[in-house]
Amino acid sequence: MAAIERVFSGVQPTGNLHLGNYLGAIVNFVKLQNTHNCIYCVVDLHAITVWQDPVELTRNIREVTAAFIASGIDPKKHIVFNQSQVAEHAELAWVLNCVARLGWLNRMTQFKEKAGKDRENASVGLYAYPNLMAADILVYRATHVPVGEDQKQHLELARDIAQKFNNDFADSIRAHGLEEKFFPQPEPLITGPATRVMSLRDGAKKMSKSDPSDYSRINLSDEADAIAQKVRKAKTDPEPLPSEEKGLEARPEADNLVGIYAALSGRSKADVLRDFGGGQFSSFKSALVDLSVDKLGPIGAEMKRLTQDPGYVDAVLVDGADRARAIAAETMHAVKDIVGFIRKK
Ligand code: TYM
Repeated sequence: MAAIERVFSGVQPTGNLHLGNYLGAIVNFVKLQNTHNCIYCVVDLHAITVWQDPVELTRNIREVTAAFIASGIDPKKHIVFNQSQVAEHAELAWVLNCVARLGWLNRMTQFKEKAGKDRENASVGLYAYPNLMAADILVYRATHVPVGEDQKQHLELARDIAQKFNNDFADSIRAHGLEEKFFPQPEPLITGPATRVMSLRDGAKKMSKSDPSDYSRINLSDEADAIAQKVRKAKTDPEPLPSEEKGLEARPEADNLVGIYAALSGRSKADVLRDFGGGQFSSFKSALVDLSVDKLGPIGAEMKRLTQDPGYVDAVLVDGADRARAIAAETMHAVKDIVGFIRKK
């Protein structure tokens, strides 16, 4: 077993948790519990970088928490909480705002996509979002961060910020007798056959919460018949499935569905094609419907049960936040000393 290292990751409570979130991130969160100390965060401060209806936001925070637990995350052995309950995230983010460079943030593709053409009208929070994300990770001095492929650039930025902080304050870090690499370089864990799940309607577009078509995604809360309908309507091409992975190369829709099947069944794409290669999409889709309903049905049902008990969910978040805060406060004390602030000792 690997040495115990700390894992941190977050999911935004912005509605419609989908199969991309599940296969790209949550499945890996569950696995890492066996080898690491894990902290999983419902990132509500990130959510409000775009306006959220307050009633919906509360509901969505509970829904993501329920999805974590229903998928197999153990909030007693590990830590599950919502970001706004641990003030140190925002506090460290301010310090990191002063470390990160404008030029670095200007390169972030996700800001460009989300702000769109009307950039002048985007919130300042949306622009500074990657600095808060760096703070989320670094406030726990986390070593590993499981995410989908779309977060890779943000992780690279977090590494740059950690390194610049360590360099800028090297003398002070030493003077306080702290580790030279005060912030470790967080390593992205982008693993499995579904690190980038694509829309079911268009193999060139990422599966996303914000796609206006509900047929583009499978939501974790979808009932069996909705899952079946969406899989059957998923876009494909006229060729039979290839027998080898190489044959998926210029076929984004086929590649996506095979990747989803592989991830849901815990197999590789090559392995799945050994069973289905040469066959028509119709029979493959039937098998995919059965597998999806089999895997996602119980999760959706458990999410429903948990969200009907908000008292329990909120208690999990309060307990997790208390334990997270204890770790974050320690880092923040050291950061204040390093930067030269005065604090109560
Ligand atoms: P968010 O809420 O957009 O997505 C949560 C996780 O789901 C992954 N994901 C996908 N994976 C595969 N295919 C897809 N179509 C797909 N869509 C989403 C994301 O990569 C992510 O892992 N900024 C983050 C949240 C965050 C965070 C953090 C993550 C805030 N602070 C610190 C890690 C560490 C986000 O918006 O994820």
